[in-house]
Amino acid sequence: MTQYSAPGVLAPVLSNTWDKPESWKLSTYRDNGGYQAIDKAWEMLKDDPAAITNYIKSSGLRGRGGAGFPTGLKWSFLPPADGGPRYLVVNADESEPGTCKDIPFLMANPHLLIEGMIICLMAIGGHHGFVYLRGEVVHVYRRLMAAVREAREAGYLGDHLGPNGDYSIDITVHAGAGAYICGEETALLDSLEGLRGQPRLKPPFPAAEGLYARPTVINNVESIASVPGIINNGIEWFTAMGADTKNSRGHGIFSISGHVKNPGQFEAPFGITMRELLEMAGGIREGHELKFYAIGGSSAPLFTPDHLDVPLGYEEVVGAGSMLATRAIQVFDETVSVVRVISRWADFYQHESCGKCTPCREGTFWMRQIMHRLEAGKGQEGDIELLYEIANNIFGRSFCALGDAASTPIKSGIDLFRSEFEAGYHTPAAELFPIEKSALFAAKSEVSVK
Ligand SMILES: Cc1cc2nc3c(=O)[nH]c(=O)nc-3n(C[C@H](O)[C@H](O)[C@H](O)COP(=O)(O)O)c2cc1C
Ligand code: SF4
Repeated sequence: MTQYSAPGVLAPVLSNTWDKPESWKLSTYRDNGGYQAIDKAWEMLKDDPAAITNYIKSSGLRGRGGAGFPTGLKWSFLPPADGGPRYLVVNADESEPGTCKDIPFLMANPHLLIEGMIICLMAIGGHHGFVYLRGEVVHVYRRLMAAVREAREAGYLGDHLGPNGDYSIDITVHAGAGAYICGEETALLDSLEGLRGQPRLKPPFPAAEGLYARPTVINNVESIASVPGIINNGIEWFTAMGADTKNSRGHGIFSISGHVKNPGQFEAPFGITMRELLEMAGGIREGHELKFYAIGGSSAPLFTPDHLDVPLGYEEVVGAGSMLATRAIQVFDETVSVVRVISRWADFYQHESCGKCTPCREGTFWMRQIMHRLEAGKGQEGDIELLYEIANNIFGRSFCALGDAASTPIKSGIDLFRSEFEAGYHTPAAELFPIEKSALFAAKSEVSVK
């Protein structure tokens, strides 16, 4: 990653050891300052059981799983201890098109997550943490289990922990069957409990009744992995990054994929712009120009070259009409059909809709059908209006945010590139934008319309 970095612009904290030999090993982690934050955290707890939670609160760390909810505040929502179990669940489901930060992080530096989990469990008075991972990423599953084993053998996990030797912490790595909806925190909990993964009605929120109906903190991988750095380096260090944004402090992994010369993970302070990130990613592939990009995965409104200088902070991106979400940036050049891209996303959302509520279950199916018609150049008069109406009926009326996520790119695509949708009444997208020109790999240019 550092190969393409401009000095001073990147902030490799989570990614600082990725290019070290065997970066995932306990020895490499320890050689680079790993597992030192735990002692500091024990020290903090001496006088005040809420000290770690308050420290994370003051750092301004916000959840990196999409919504940007303040992490310390979330921990503080747990009710007072009653002697029963309290859990930490780490969300490593990472399934949205374009998102690819947690998986490479876990491959490269699993001990940083484990250290963050230990500190979070100490902060909330918990003894058992879970990592919920997609079952398909077997290599990551194995790596995480090996890292947990190493940490246990080295005495970071297990019994007799802490200055008094009276604390116990263990971690379970759980592989799900692979469903986007299982990234939604309450569906994740159901899946972890062995049920079908479908969202729960809230309230009660997981802080009050989460895993096995006990108080539970659910955080994204990157949120928890950011904790040791804050404890080690201090609040001032953390808040200096992103200081130009309204309320987005620290560092984050920006995943850049698509038509750039050097796609990959770029860990940078919040407030960096897409123009800077694009430069570090080597720019758009030779002889082409930027047409549009997804700034926050496939669920956020699209951005165009007009947005290149928007500071990438949560509020700033919302102010410019989109959402920063998971910073999964997919870049598309002028060879790409917007209709085709959104049609693929419509396939995804229809496939991943869990079926619990009617607007999303039925609406994603209808939207997919219409998108396929438009993509094939067989759209019917009124299709665009119908598509927009269905999207509006899903948005805000679904049981969970997957419904909103499915409708957002469709509305955004129509708003920004209506003429391409209109062309879908008579001309196939593959004729206007031949796939061979945009594909980086061999591809099939047919789409089936039933
Ligand atoms: C359909 C759907 C999928 C989601 N997938 C993920 C995911 O893969 N990873 C994640 O951390 N959060 C995901 N979320 C958000 C979680 O519900 C939750 O807000 C997050 O894990 C909280 O962690 P944070 O506060 O650290 O961001 C998803 C939400 C929805 C609605
Ligand atoms: S919005 Fe979709 S994914 Fe969410 S509960 Fe309803 S059907 Fe399931």
